[in-house]
Amino acid sequence: MNAPFRGGQQTRESFAAYLCDDDTVEQIKPVVNDMGWDVAKVHKGGLRNAVQSLSITASPSILLVDLSESSDPINDINGLAEVCEPGTVVIAIGQVNDVRLFRDLVSSGIHDYLLKPIFAEQVRDVFMNAQAMLNAPRMTEAVDHVRHTVTAVVGTRGGVGASTIATSLAWLFGQQGKRRTALLDLDVHFGTGALTLDLEPGRGLIDAIDNPSRIDGLFIERALVRANDNLAILSAEAPINQPLMSDGGTFFHLREEIKAAFESTVIDLPRAMMISYPHLLNDLNAVVLVTELTLAGARDAIRLLSAFKTACPDARVFLVANKVAPTGTEVSRKDFETSIEREIDLVLPLDAKLAVKAAKLGQSLAETTRGTRLGTSIGKLATMILSAGDEAPDGDNVADAKDAKKQSLLSKLSVSGLMKGKAKG
Ligand SMILES: Nc1ncnc2c1ncn2[C@@H]1O[C@H](COP(=O)(O)OP(=O)(O)OP(=O)(O)O)[C@@H](O)[C@H]1O
Ligand SMILES: [Mg+2]
Repeated sequence: MNAPFRGGQQTRESFAAYLCDDDTVEQIKPVVNDMGWDVAKVHKGGLRNAVQSLSITASPSILLVDLSESSDPINDINGLAEVCEPGTVVIAIGQVNDVRLFRDLVSSGIHDYLLKPIFAEQVRDVFMNAQAMLNAPRMTEAVDHVRHTVTAVVGTRGGVGASTIATSLAWLFGQQGKRRTALLDLDVHFGTGALTLDLEPGRGLIDAIDNPSRIDGLFIERALVRANDNLAILSAEAPINQPLMSDGGTFFHLREEIKAAFESTVIDLPRAMMISYPHLLNDLNAVVLVTELTLAGARDAIRLLSAFKTACPDARVFLVANKVAPTGTEVSRKDFETSIEREIDLVLPLDAKLAVKAAKLGQSLAETTRGTRLGTSIGKLATMILSAGDEAPDGDNVADAKDAKKQSLLSKLSVSGLMKGKAKG
């Protein structure tokens, strides 16, 4: 938010809420208490009261405002921005269920929008997400001196959700991390990055592959398709009868020019591309390996983790199990971790409803799922990657795949039922 810092003169509270009705107040208070914040900071009075109070006191770190009594929420939020200091995370509550309003609020700097009636669980998730954002390295203020972060997202198997996570991370790095981010979708024939964000891929990537000598700063400016102020994408829908003809130099130049023009790159890196152009793994800051909890997923997680250890030993590797159903996974989390000899960093639940909703809205899954459990978890992954960007490299938790190979995979899995099934078939 826009008001100058007054932090030097007054202590900043962790939290304050300005709400319109008693029901919401009663729902919020226990959650505020659980978060360890002062329940006395839950005020009645909505947005107008918030503006009045904050014009004379320091803003809290996290501010919850009720828009229900506001006839022009966007205008009023802009009024709030005038009295709110930078770094304040503002969460709005309202009773208008309108995607356009939500989008406008987000572009006005609102962290999230909760629809009434609210539920304790949902509010808790949003608060945790806001707190995680505040605890992350000062992303907004550090933009001028952050080093460029390159994150590659790879799936152990087809369809595990690697592209979904790549678009989500790129969106989050731009939106929450406030880093100018480029999404480089290297699934040249079948990429879905642009489609997910409801954009036309354009000819940029195909032109770059056809004429690598044309790649320079100006080319990058024109070729990348803008999704929002902080996110642009370079992708293609190359004709199916046109094999990819590149010596790989194209991708090197693209990465260099993108690095000069942006603050962060997310590469959607199909496994086949990684094999054809192994240098794509060079100089990565982070690799997100997305997997399903299956036997094949475990086998390929071991092989890919080993490949990363050799090709990009300094990159932080985050292992994400995605589309995990509450019950009935082929391999349990515990067995999966035992077999690959490392822990899964994050489990993302299967949520078909939200995935369909994101597709229908033409949004990244992270955008559609804001405020939900799934969204909070994806947000956590983005925070982990950005935080790790400034830490020293640490490959300790990557499985030593050479040792892992010494034992058979199935022997390390206590999935007797699965083995019986295989024996029968
Ligand atoms: N957590 C989730 N819950 C439910 N559906 C999901 C989840 N994550 C991804 N999906 C869905 O799974 C499908 C495959 O996702 P995506 O295209 O991202 O996978 P991929 O690994 O990139 O596939 P490919 O191997 O084709 O590149 C999509 O329809 C997506 O919406
Ligand atoms: Mg994909």
